[in-house]
Amino acid sequence: MIDTIKKHITEVEKFTATNKEELESFRIKYLGKKGLLNDFFAEFKNVPNEQKKEFGQTINQLKQAANEKLNTLRDALESKSDEKGIYGDLTRPGEPIELGARHPISIVKNQIIEIFSRIGFNVSEGPEIEDDWHNFTALNLPEYHPARDMQDTFFIQTDPDILLRTHTSSVQVRYMENNTPPIRTISPGRVYRNEAISARSHCFFHQVEGLYIDKDVSFADLKQTLQYFTTELFGKSKIRLRPSYFPFTEPSAEVDVYWGLETETDYKMTKGTGWLEIMGCGMVDPNVLDNCGIDSKEYSGFAFGMGIDRIALLLHQISDIRLLSENDVRFLEQFKSAL
Ligand code: PHE
Repeated sequence: MIDTIKKHITEVEKFTATNKEELESFRIKYLGKKGLLNDFFAEFKNVPNEQKKEFGQTINQLKQAANEKLNTLRDALESKSDEKGIYGDLTRPGEPIELGARHPISIVKNQIIEIFSRIGFNVSEGPEIEDDWHNFTALNLPEYHPARDMQDTFFIQTDPDILLRTHTSSVQVRYMENNTPPIRTISPGRVYRNEAISARSHCFFHQVEGLYIDKDVSFADLKQTLQYFTTELFGKSKIRLRPSYFPFTEPSAEVDVYWGLETETDYKMTKGTGWLEIMGCGMVDPNVLDNCGIDSKEYSGFAFGMGIDRIALLLHQISDIRLLSENDVRFLEQFKSAL
């Protein structure tokens, strides 16, 4: 009897099936209710005591062999049936689908939006093709004002009234014209300036400008807001405000963040000073408020503006601003793990 079972074990080990039906008859033959295994188990009670141990072990071996065979053949047949004919599964994509990555500008822009939204700023947007009023005149830059030269402008054809916006302050003008204080808004977007293209500057880039208008807004509020922002974005809270000039703010300042001098890159980036300039800011000039229909006797506010591209270069250690607009997949792919 034991020899018969052993023969079955060899048979089971040799067995192969070319289709599901063959495999099913194999299963019924050995593992089915009326299968051989059950017959052998029923035989157990008739086996003389001294043989019981060996008999039991041998049946168990057969049982295990049959189960293993069944599982491997079932897997093999199933994966085979996935390939529908010689063309395989026609519904599957021809190429593996690559995971995309967000552009570094979008990553940084979203971070900035997120940081300001936590303290109550909403997001406002406006057109890239602007008129003179929203880009210049309303911002205290009347025609022939020398400060217009601070931002070399692209005009649309021959109409001096229509231009590509040089900053997103134009969005703030539109926002003030259409809303009443309290106003807390940031305006991200693309801007254009007629500048030579180099590793450090481009004729188009991206800005986020911020505006806060309410009763009794002070310069201290501005500084505190900026300090919160630099801590959240860069993890650096030491800032300094250098007096500067913008036609639309008074007083105006340039904001430097203390980056430190720990590495060689820090030295290079900060030209050995440890400080990095990151934005312009100031208290909104009362003329601007009045131009936009907000009573400057009742309200005051602050504004600030920064370039997203340069911050992206800084945060991701990118050496050339032109990489941001070349759409080179080898470059863009590197941001897969970022936000
Ligand atoms: N609009 C300025 C620029 O583009 C930045 C700025 C915004 C400065 C708001 C002060 C206040 O350079």
